[in-house]
Amino acid sequence: MISDRKLAHLEICKNEDVEHHRTTGFEDIELVHRTLPEVNFEEIDTSINFLGKTLDTPLIISAITGGHEASKQINENIAIAIENTNIAMGVGSQRAGITNEELTETFTIVRDHARKAMIIGNIGAPQVEYAPKAIEMLDCDALAIHLNPLQEIIQPEGDVDAKGYVDSIRNICETTDIPIIAKETGAGIDGRDAKILEEIGVDAIDVQGVGGTSWAAVETYRSENPSLGNLFWDWGIPTAVSTIETIEATQLPVISSGGIRNGLEAAKAISLGASCAGMALPFLKHAYANPEKVEEKINQFTRELKTAMFLVGASNIEELKQKRLIITGKTREILTQLNIDTTKYARRI
Ligand SMILES: Cc1cc2nc3c(=O)[nH]c(=O)nc-3n(C[C@H](O)[C@H](O)[C@H](O)COP(=O)(O)O)c2cc1C
Repeated sequence: MISDRKLAHLEICKNEDVEHHRTTGFEDIELVHRTLPEVNFEEIDTSINFLGKTLDTPLIISAITGGHEASKQINENIAIAIENTNIAMGVGSQRAGITNEELTETFTIVRDHARKAMIIGNIGAPQVEYAPKAIEMLDCDALAIHLNPLQEIIQPEGDVDAKGYVDSIRNICETTDIPIIAKETGAGIDGRDAKILEEIGVDAIDVQGVGGTSWAAVETYRSENPSLGNLFWDWGIPTAVSTIETIEATQLPVISSGGIRNGLEAAKAISLGASCAGMALPFLKHAYANPEKVEEKINQFTRELKTAMFLVGASNIEELKQKRLIITGKTREILTQLNIDTTKYARRI
């Protein structure tokens, strides 16, 4: 049953090692320190406009859950915290709440507590026919279509027919009024697929690359034959590379996510050109606890981001996007192979 699977995913992610053994690549990217920042820390403005909403901090708590009784408290705790801090959250796949009305409340609890904050609905690419119901259920501000071919192929009950996603996503973009976000789940999006997604009409891309939660890893714990999951544990595109490739390939707003663990990494992603950052796993244990813990984590992230902004002399997010970055190591090597010029970031003012 979907509901049992949802609980298993939560428990595995809370208790086991589910992260990639490879990194995001953000360790190869450095913001350049200013000894004369000419900025008052107290006046730094981290707010952004994103898909028609204002966020006080450029952060989305990425899709985690819904669809099991245990999800309700988690979603409630996150919803209270995002309403208080005015950031965004995504819910987990709404399929369970659409096919079983008893589980709908595990999602609607989010809008009950987050009346003004940005809520992102979620449906899988194979189930886009549920999109209108998903939007209505939450009165959401945007809808994420999640793409997870890696998880589908590793999980025992996975849907391995990935033909037709492009047409069905195009159809949803043409028939839906709210913004559509194409969202990976931890294996990243490359420049070619980003371009296709832009051409078919998606409004934003959430790269969710390698360096954080690995869904091959999660499914390894549920599988009777873990060898396939172990082999593909680290499969995918590092988040820093996926972020840059997507920014280079499209004009779309980009959410940098997958292994982002603090406000400094988010500052790097935003300086590269991302609109905002997303984080899932780091919020899980806080969301199990209470809204205050989630809020503390959000405030810590904001403080880290603002500290990075202070040290590069950026008083707002637009200024952060113009600051110098040095890209070295493996990330530079990969980007050079992709014919992306990394020196232009170093040549900024
Ligand atoms: C317990 C858990 C459940 C998740 N469920 C969903 C889901 O239903 N839909 C989805 O699009 N992503 C889901 N994700 C994936 C996250 O949104 C995110 O893409 C991934 O965890 C990588 O980000 P991270 O490294 O910050 O955790 C889930 C993540 C976790 C930890």
